[in-house]
Parts: sequence; C-alpha cells; structure tokens
Amino acid sequence: MAKMAASMVEGGEDAFRKIFKFYKRRNPPPDFSDVIDFSKRAPSDQVVPAALGPGGVSDVEAARVGLQPVRDWRAFGLQGYPGFMFISNPFLPGSQPSWVRQCLKIYPRKPNVCNLDMHMSPSDTQDIWDKSVHGLSCPPSGKTQPKTLLDRLRWVTLGYHYNWDTKTYSANHHTPFPADLHSLSSQIASACGFPGFNAEAGILNYYRSDSSLGIHVDESELDHSRPLLSFSFGTSAIFLLGGTRRQDPPTAMYMHSGDVMVMSGQSRLLYHAVPRIVAAPQGGPVSASETDGCGPLSQEDGSVVEPLSEQDRAACSRYTHSSRVNVTVRQVLGPGQSFPETPSSHQRTDAEQTEGRHGRPADGERGKRRRRSSSCDSVDTAET
Ligand code: OGA
Ligand code: MN
Repeated sequence: MAKMAASMVEGGEDAFRKIFKFYKRRNPPPDFSDVIDFSKRAPSDQVVPAALGPGGVSDVEAARVGLQPVRDWRAFGLQGYPGFMFISNPFLPGSQPSWVRQCLKIYPRKPNVCNLDMHMSPSDTQDIWDKSVHGLSCPPSGKTQPKTLLDRLRWVTLGYHYNWDTKTYSANHHTPFPADLHSLSSQIASACGFPGFNAEAGILNYYRSDSSLGIHVDESELDHSRPLLSFSFGTSAIFLLGGTRRQDPPTAMYMHSGDVMVMSGQSRLLYHAVPRIVAAPQGGPVSASETDGCGPLSQEDGSVVEPLSEQDRAACSRYTHSSRVNVTVRQVLGPGQSFPETPSSHQRTDAEQTEGRHGRPADGERGKRRRRSSSCDSVDTAET
C-alpha cells in the first residue's frame, strides 16, 4: 500500500475515482505492486480459498464446455467481499480459442445486437467476421490498414437485450440466448453453489489497449439474488472492486485470459470498474492465443466447444494479442417473475453519465469525451 497516497485508500469523497485515475494514468505509468494477481501462488493476504459445490458438475459436463474438472479449479474469495469469487482460468488447455471465436465470429451475428447496428444497416453489419477476417489472418504488411468492422465492435448484447439509454431490459426485446454460453454459465454457477442459474442476458465488451470501463453497479436485472458471471479473454485488465457506496475505496486485481469472476450475495451490487488494459506481467500468463493456440482439443461427445479452422485460429490469436473481450452473463428474472408493465422507475442517479449503472467501455480520451456527449454510442460513433 506504500505506493499509493494514503488519502486514496482511506476513503472519503472520491477514493474510487482517484484510484481509477491512478491505474488509468499513462505517463508516468502507475505502480502495479498492489494489484492482486490470482494467477500467482500466494496472491495476497486478503485472498482465501473458496469452497466449490461438490459433485454439482461432472468431469464430462465440464469438459463439454471446455472446463477442467471442478476439483482442479483454483477458486478464491476475497476477505471483506462475501459472495465474490474468482476462478483463475478454469478452462482446459486449447478450449479458450473456441470461446474467443464465438465472441468474435458468432455472437455478433443477428439476431444479437451490437454497437454497429446503431448507425449501420442490417446488411452492412450482417457478417462482421467475414468482412474483417482477411486483415486479421494475414501477417501485418507494415502499412496502416483501414479499420475493420471487428476493430470497431465495442459491445454485443444477447438474450434480453440491455437498453443502454433506459438502462433496462424488457420483455419485447428478447432473442434466444446462445445455448453454448448458457451451458457454460450453468456449469460455473452450479459449481459455485447456484444450481438452476438461468442465463438470460449477456453483455460482451470489446476492449482495445486504451479502453476503460467507468465506475458502475449492475443493478438493472430484476432478481439480484442470482449471481453475475464474468468471463475474460485476451489481454489482461485491471479490475477495481469497490463497495456499496460509490466513494468506497476499491481493491485492484488482474483479470487474465480465461479468468472467471462471480459476483453474488453481498458482492452482487458492488461498484466496480476497469480502468486499464495491461499486457500480461512478465513471466506470468500470456494471452489466450499463446497459451492455448496449438493444443489439440479432444472432443467430448456432446461438446459445445468445436475445434477452429486454421484461418479462424490465426485471426482469433491476432485479435486477442492486443485486445480483450469480457462477457458478463446475467439472470434477469427470478423464478416466476415477469417484467413490470412500465419500465422500473427505480433509477440510481449518479452525478456523471460515465459512472453509475452499467456503462460501455470508452476508448482513450476521445472515447471519454464522446461518452459524455452522446447517449447512443460512446465508443465508435467517432469512427463510423
Ligand atoms: C460489465 C463489467 C467488467 C469487465 O460488463 O458490467 O463490469 O471486466 N465488465 O469488462
Ligand atoms: Mn459491471
């Protein structure tokens, strides 16, 4: 803690925002020595082993979604954050690229919704992957290439589509949730003590090296007794986990490729943010592409993770080398619950548009400015 000004960690008016800015700073770069790294053998005194539900998930079921047997997972809790769980990359070697391919090639397809739909016609956003992949699978030519649609992809929504303006989900904007991601989420939730978790909404955020995600709480779901799951692929990031009040000082941790986070119980409604994308620490884990690139994936019967074509593998590897994808999966409604007739009037009002309820990632300084001035699309309107 010596590296950060005492005023930052003690709390007070703006402790979270100060720490957010501390980690976002480029020049000079911040000291990362207080950032908890769950991939290390002894991450921090604050980290405790987490008990996983025994027998909830068979080895075969886990393997079908590309996960190691649950007994081999390295799962942790964090003192002071009951209900928060961090599973340090539980994926089987070779299975991450399949999930990355789903996130880049499959989930952006119709009927799912993405940021590019906001200002492009359906035919133009019809196949983002096919229109972009040529550049990603060729070695860099040295020339600056024009931005592809994949470069400009910032978010995708699945299932009940999150409305970024009203910050609500609704019954009349729903498409089928992807079965493979539903299954992966069920296995993770079961192992963490939440059998019957029903993945109903997904938000994928696509980060470039200068992107960040502002301080927010995910409270738009109607049933907060269900956990929120988060999957990270590609470059590492710093995640800040705060308290129930916006000013509570947060704890910083790395999220590496393959890491899974579960926010439940008292940690379900905590403020959090992603101030920075970082290269993996020296000697630490490397991106999904490098750790997982070549491992042959042995296929279980009924597997939802399929091997990649060479072209897809190369393109995914290129993408995850410099970019990050985060998938959050949410259950929106409790058993037997339905949407109210009119959108909920319960809204948390935060001083700034960039902070409060779930926001979209912003790119560098320009993204931040746009985010304040536009309620439609913060990230890429400048570029399309
Ligand atoms: C979110 C979120 C964190 C991340 O989408 O709500 O907090 O790691 N994402 O990108
Ligand atoms: Mn969130």
